[in-house]
Amino acid sequence: MVDEAGSAPAAPVVSARGLIKRFDAREVVRGIDFAIPAGSCFGILGPNGAGKTTTLRMVLGQSPPSGGTLEVFGLPIPENGRAVRARIGLVPQMDNLDPDFTVAENLRIYGNYFGLPDAMLEQRIASLLAFVELSDRADTKITTLSGGMRRRLTIARSLINDPELVVLDEPTTGLDPQVRHMIWARLRDLRAQGKTLLLTTHYMEEAERLCDQLVVMDEGRVLERGATRDLIRRHVEPEVLEVRGDGDARRLLSGCSGRLETVGDTLYYYTDNARAAVARLESDPHVVFQHRPANLEDVFLKLTGRELRE
Ligand SMILES: Nc1ncnc2c1ncn2[C@@H]1O[C@H](COP(=O)(O)OP(=O)(O)OP(=O)(O)O)[C@@H](O)[C@H]1O
Ligand SMILES: [Mg+2]
Repeated sequence: MVDEAGSAPAAPVVSARGLIKRFDAREVVRGIDFAIPAGSCFGILGPNGAGKTTTLRMVLGQSPPSGGTLEVFGLPIPENGRAVRARIGLVPQMDNLDPDFTVAENLRIYGNYFGLPDAMLEQRIASLLAFVELSDRADTKITTLSGGMRRRLTIARSLINDPELVVLDEPTTGLDPQVRHMIWARLRDLRAQGKTLLLTTHYMEEAERLCDQLVVMDEGRVLERGATRDLIRRHVEPEVLEVRGDGDARRLLSGCSGRLETVGDTLYYYTDNARAAVARLESDPHVVFQHRPANLEDVFLKLTGRELRE
């Protein structure tokens, strides 16, 4: 195949077809397909238990697929697990830094594992600590770091082998807004450097900010795929009113043509044009509402349903 510029398009960095993972008789990844273009950021979104981590573990060659085909850098997995892992950086869902060592030592251990020469390793440690703003913590013990600092160090560690593909399993879960924004900026830097990113997340805003393409997974299947904006356009009306309070919002909105959903004490009103509905709600001082554009969370909840998982 030849693109408009006359050159062959780059082969995908990861390509999965009919990928299956079974634990005993239970199929937890149930025949999924995806391809990750080089230099892009690809997201896997899904509720707890969707199969996100299981999918990443197969990509990393840590868990052999039960069916389907999987290629990373064009090499079949799991046969080439060791070769591909040398070219991948991993930020696991749970930080697994070595508590017996300092910040810099944790990076050094990893660098040694990849066989980096000493001078290059020391240079890389210094520049990675600067990248995640931990230069002044190089000699600090891991046990005294905050959760955000540990996460930043784990990201630095994932880059020690200058990987082509960085795999991040929920990179910002449980972190405060400052750290999340800082990590998002660094991940965008990595993408700008030409690295390919594969991440999982529950956070819609994270996917919206970072991902070029994403798949929404639930119970081992891909429910939807595409670019963020396209997914929103395809599945939900562009404007949303989130209504709370003691007023009689349901009656006020009953004459309007949008779509109503109730979740707990909140009413969601989806519409192409909220002007008339806003005017009605404003007539009742007991109604509290927020008017916002539809986002990926609306798509996600519509696709995966609103009941709790696991
Ligand atoms: N080693 C295992 N043995 C048996 N079942 C497993 C194993 N690993 C995962 N599972 C099951 O597979 C399903 C998918 O798990 P997975 O960890 O991939 O979900 P996830 O999408 O990463 O969820 P979360 O958002 O909670 O991290 C779950 O039901 C889980 O219990
Ligand atoms: Mg997981």
